[in-house]
Amino acid sequence: MKVAGTIKELQKTIKEHGLSPVGFVPTMGALHEGHISLVRNAIEKCPLVVVSIYVNPTQFNDRNDLKNYPRTPEEDLALLGKTLRQNDVVFTPGNNEMYPTEEREEYHFGNLDDVMEAKYRPGHFNGVAMVVQRLFEIVKPDYAYFGQKDFQQVAVIKELVRQTGDRVKIIGNPIIRENDGLAMSSRNRLLDSGIRKNAGIIYTTIRKAVEMVSDHEIPEIKYFVKENIEKVNGFSVEYFEIADDRELLTLERKSDRIKGRKHFGCIAVRAGRIRLIDNMEFPL
Ligand code: PAJ
Repeated sequence: MKVAGTIKELQKTIKEHGLSPVGFVPTMGALHEGHISLVRNAIEKCPLVVVSIYVNPTQFNDRNDLKNYPRTPEEDLALLGKTLRQNDVVFTPGNNEMYPTEEREEYHFGNLDDVMEAKYRPGHFNGVAMVVQRLFEIVKPDYAYFGQKDFQQVAVIKELVRQTGDRVKIIGNPIIRENDGLAMSSRNRLLDSGIRKNAGIIYTTIRKAVEMVSDHEIPEIKYFVKENIEKVNGFSVEYFEIADDRELLTLERKSDRIKGRKHFGCIAVRAGRIRLIDNMEFPL
């Protein structure tokens, strides 16, 4: 694999190879098997794969979260070295490359930018959209790979692409989990050991909630999820909502479901000092 630290280097390398289609996996580093699964899926389809590593400051609404965000550049390159092929490229831009001016785009995503993550992390998706649009302009991928772990992010990026008319195709990829069911996340390594030991409760609870759906209404399911998780010391539920996968309209009753769309139960939990998210499809 090659490593490009500047836009110029990256674009020169892509052009030299002349391979297509180009697959792109944007990341913020601290890579784990979840990220690597996206890279593998990209490799399967695309003769040239670009992986970016850039901790994007504009998507952090909490300064401490940005400061504490894990950064493991050597391990990241070692892991990618084992996965990528000779021609694939790792793009590691700096802030000056990504944000050469002070100008900040403003996006409007309607309901997508009002509910769940957007409500608790104001400005987050504006920052995500800004960096992803910029990365798409630089890499010009045919396919871009995102994890369903960040369910709302996938919906926002699809809407961004609809709005900008970019020809890139967005591919959603399944959630990769630890043995106890905890969704893999760069932030997992920040969990205290006591909290980490119990963090499988998030997965087991939403699985039980899925089983409840045939003979319970949504308020009962929500009550169960909150209670079951908050029984564990140090865990508190920020939200649990069931929403469709396009507009993210949150359901009050099962009869609110939208025909022809999939629905997902989405959760954010404060686990000690760390915020974790997860989701699962709810067959409604
Ligand atoms: P990051 O959190 O590093 O995640 C990069 C990609 O890996 C995202 O598409 C995310 O959904 C996916 N991913 C993370 N954990 C996963 C898991 N357990 N299973 C499957 N996929 C997983 O998401 C971002 O970075 C940023 O917002 C970014 C899109 C790079 C823009 O800055």
